[in-house]
Amino acid sequence: MQRMLADVLLCRYRFSFPALLLLILVDVISAQTGPTRWTASPFNSPALPLAVRSPYLNVWLPQGNNPPQANETDNRLWDYNLPIQWYASVVVDAVEYRLLSLWAQGEQGAVQKAVEFTATRTSFLMEAGGVEFNVTFLSPIEPNDFSRQSLPFSYLYMTARATDGQQHRVRMYSDIEGNIAAGDTSQVIQWDADDTDDYVVLSTQLRNQKPFVETRNIAQDATVYYSFKKVSYESLNSIKGFTASWRISGFNSARGLLFSQPVNGNLGNTQETNFRAPSSGNDTPVLGISIDWGNITSTSEAAVWSFGVYRNPSMQYLMSDGSFQQRSPYFMSTITKPLDAPKFVLDDFPRALAAAIDFDTKLRAEGTAVSSKYADLLALTARQVMGAMDITIPPAKDGAWDIKDVKIFMKNLGSVGSDNGGQASVNNVGTLYAAFPAFLYLNPDIGGYLLAPLLEFQESKTYTLPYAAKDMGSGFPNAIGDGSNDPHTFGIDDTAGMLIMTLAYAMASGNGTLIANHYGLLRRWGEWLGNNTVTPFHQSSGDFSISADSSTANQTNLALKGIIGIAAMSKIADAAGETSDRDRFNATAHTAIDLWQKEAVSSSSVNFVYGSSDNSALIYNLYADKLLKLNLVPDSVYTLLTSFYQSSAGSMKYGIPLSSQPSQNTSTNWMMFAASTTTNNATRDVLISQVYEYASSSLNNAPFSSLYNPSTGVGSSSQGTGSGRASPAQGGLFALLALGTTSKSINLTSVSSGSSSPTSSKISPGVIAGVVIAAIAALACSIVLGIIIFRRHRHRREELQRESGRRTPQGILAEAQTVEPNWLLSQPLTGGTNNAPNSNTNSASNLVAYRDNANYRHAPPGTQTSMSMSHAPSSSSRSLSADWTADSLFTDATAPPPPPPRTGRLDSKSARIDAEHRDAEYSATEFSSPTQTSGSGGTRGRLGSLQLQQELDSLRRDVERMRQERSLLALSGDHHDVPPPSYSG
Ligand SMILES: *[C@@H]1O[C@H](CO)[C@@H](O)[C@H](O)[C@H]1NC(C)=O
Ligand SMILES: *[C@@H]1O[C@H](CO)[C@@H](O)[C@H](O)[C@H]1NC(C)=O
Repeated sequence: MQRMLADVLLCRYRFSFPALLLLILVDVISAQTGPTRWTASPFNSPALPLAVRSPYLNVWLPQGNNPPQANETDNRLWDYNLPIQWYASVVVDAVEYRLLSLWAQGEQGAVQKAVEFTATRTSFLMEAGGVEFNVTFLSPIEPNDFSRQSLPFSYLYMTARATDGQQHRVRMYSDIEGNIAAGDTSQVIQWDADDTDDYVVLSTQLRNQKPFVETRNIAQDATVYYSFKKVSYESLNSIKGFTASWRISGFNSARGLLFSQPVNGNLGNTQETNFRAPSSGNDTPVLGISIDWGNITSTSEAAVWSFGVYRNPSMQYLMSDGSFQQRSPYFMSTITKPLDAPKFVLDDFPRALAAAIDFDTKLRAEGTAVSSKYADLLALTARQVMGAMDITIPPAKDGAWDIKDVKIFMKNLGSVGSDNGGQASVNNVGTLYAAFPAFLYLNPDIGGYLLAPLLEFQESKTYTLPYAAKDMGSGFPNAIGDGSNDPHTFGIDDTAGMLIMTLAYAMASGNGTLIANHYGLLRRWGEWLGNNTVTPFHQSSGDFSISADSSTANQTNLALKGIIGIAAMSKIADAAGETSDRDRFNATAHTAIDLWQKEAVSSSSVNFVYGSSDNSALIYNLYADKLLKLNLVPDSVYTLLTSFYQSSAGSMKYGIPLSSQPSQNTSTNWMMFAASTTTNNATRDVLISQVYEYASSSLNNAPFSSLYNPSTGVGSSSQGTGSGRASPAQGGLFALLALGTTSKSINLTSVSSGSSSPTSSKISPGVIAGVVIAAIAALACSIVLGIIIFRRHRHRREELQRESGRRTPQGILAEAQTVEPNWLLSQPLTGGTNNAPNSNTNSASNLVAYRDNANYRHAPPGTQTSMSMSHAPSSSSRSLSADWTADSLFTDATAPPPPPPRTGRLDSKSARIDAEHRDAEYSATEFSSPTQTSGSGGTRGRLGSLQLQQELDSLRRDVERMRQERSLLALSGDHHDVPPPSYSG
């Protein structure tokens, strides 16, 4: 009925807004359902990961409401803006059945009987002509093996078994099109084949490659491999290799051979020579590989294809001297020739499968110890978090590889954290913070290597902000710090995040190298937090960026993170043997948490902003107190929040909102952070169940979005980016497991060598002893001489650092240039005198005074400007206007490719201008008041556009579904890459 209606509306009538509303009505009336024709285990997911190994090999199958069978929809890139057209079919006794992807030339559909996902595998059971096919997509997760983890290759493997006990002639076939090599599918691709006794390796790439450039989230410098391990089976006396055949040609010809000559159709092992674009209508080129099993009752082993998106070099990185370094995937240290990569992957299959089964089993067991729902959620998210990064190494001078200088880069798929508007930055700190529990649990070194480039970069003189950067560059794969010196409003969020992550990594790995190498930087950040965190002004938390209250002053959850950041700095100082720092940061954190408690905690919950009980919140930042074992926040707060969560979980089906006004946002990761802070398992399980309800609701069909509406269960955006779709932030679901990881004592002296140390340098025990002595001396003297000695102490440490060679001259220079901070809380709270940090003259009335006055003086530099810039509602341009037609629903899909990332050196002139700009802002006294800046007009405008956005998203979903259904009805002819239909006639 719905389909008919859609068709009628789409084809015969002018596509009007009332018609769309009618459709939505029909849609609402028909309830959300999971699959009716097959079983989905453990649940019907929003989307199934097919090949999720890297930011560019990230292919999914939409599921959700009334999900399509694998033969009924396009599999797509994670953002859904590009169909990948990964195809598979089988021939049984001369009849062809399609398994995967949309393409029909008369072949039948295999009947899908079961779908299953585990942490590493998505598998389908399909029946065709009396034979059951098990079709499995494996994306290995190898957290402790960087060579294998860095290989952007996945597997498709198939087995067959007759269900009627009879012998059947069985052939299997699969191909890929060139979309995943091109992005803009009108660009010409070229291809090649390598056919040996053991393997078929087909490859394709753009004729005009562009290094480090993306088009529609597709790398413009990749070589795509589709390859196959030839099978030998003695039972049929076949000669090895005879059973596999391949073809690179128009799909009509390659797939057509199976259809037209299903019994004898050998693909001919040939390739066409006229290179052309992936979208070439009936002549669209495919890379196809087939295996003929002969007459069998079951396959003796699996037929294995491997799908890879190979790039080398993979990242561009800004060095501390201002030059760009090209970095390569880690596996280059063991596999040097490109062609060897797919062969290694194919040979590795039996081991990889065994390891994957082992990984799945262990993760399931540990997840089940919490609850089976929790285990299911981990299975859905593991590939998502591990498939968003590139593990890299640089070339060494001698032509080999420097495997001691590992750096990992994460693409912010889904643009959560501080990104918005579709930007997908490099190592976004907010997203990294959300994802970090997964790394702590799977291998903390991954976390260390993700932090290392951020720390190294901010240690250099190219970095000029007094607080932490939002990211390492605005667009993957360029970690070049473009825009990183622009003042931003995530100072508290990201500075505290960096301190917390650095400490968590050290406590989970025992490795103190990052602390040793960046102590000065970390301490400066701790000081900055001390001066800026207790009453946040003009500061945002990442995932609030789409909500009206993104920068409301005095947000308690944000202040809490900052205070925990200060306490983390105290523990970092402790690990470094800097006892005087330890004590001062500790005292500051305790003073601050007392004030926080007085102002933030109400009788039944923690207020979203100080002193106002109108608005409650999910206080997910409490998690770090527990993770780092700080014991900073009193137990009473944990207990209070637990009962608040327990009582408020009932009011919205799918979660607790990040703030209760407006209440349309929450996120899976912050829900799980909060669940990890509950004081009883019943409440913990209620929160887990809510996230599970959202994941399994069949309401969404995009790669599991971290951001969603807790009331409706709808992911924040169904199309495009900025939605949390496919976000690595889902690593936050590991929060409960990560609690058990942070129990190692941090070792600054014996840094283990090889791939488990985040950087190569070591500190000698002598230097450590020197640092300790200096610290003790400084502590004693500071009582008498105060700040003067403090400076001398710093000088002494710098000497020590110089001696040990662990700091670059630039780093020392940068440190020397920073102004001695106003000591922590004391000055702002007491009205300007330079009290000792421990003096406890603070009171709630001081706090209020600070809020009202001093606040503005101490607002982070430049926030005024960046507020109005970065928080202009990006969605406001999508307003419903008179000339609005269904066409505009597809703006995401048809938008021109994003501009290439900025390249070239960061010039020192612009850095200087930034600095001057900041100074000017610093001295400006006319900051407007918090109420003005989060003014009602802007708030309402934002809200309006948000609702609009949601409506548009839902409309877009409907049109997308209608388009799919329509193309299913019109099966004949070419519907490859057809542009969205035009309805504006
Ligand atoms: C997919 O397979 C099913 C089961 O055989 C079939 O009913 C359906 O028509 C097929 N879909 C398409 C689009 O061919
Ligand atoms: C496919 O085979 C694997 C290995 O035997 C099995 O674990 C999985 O359950 C099968 N898939 C389905 C959907 O039954």
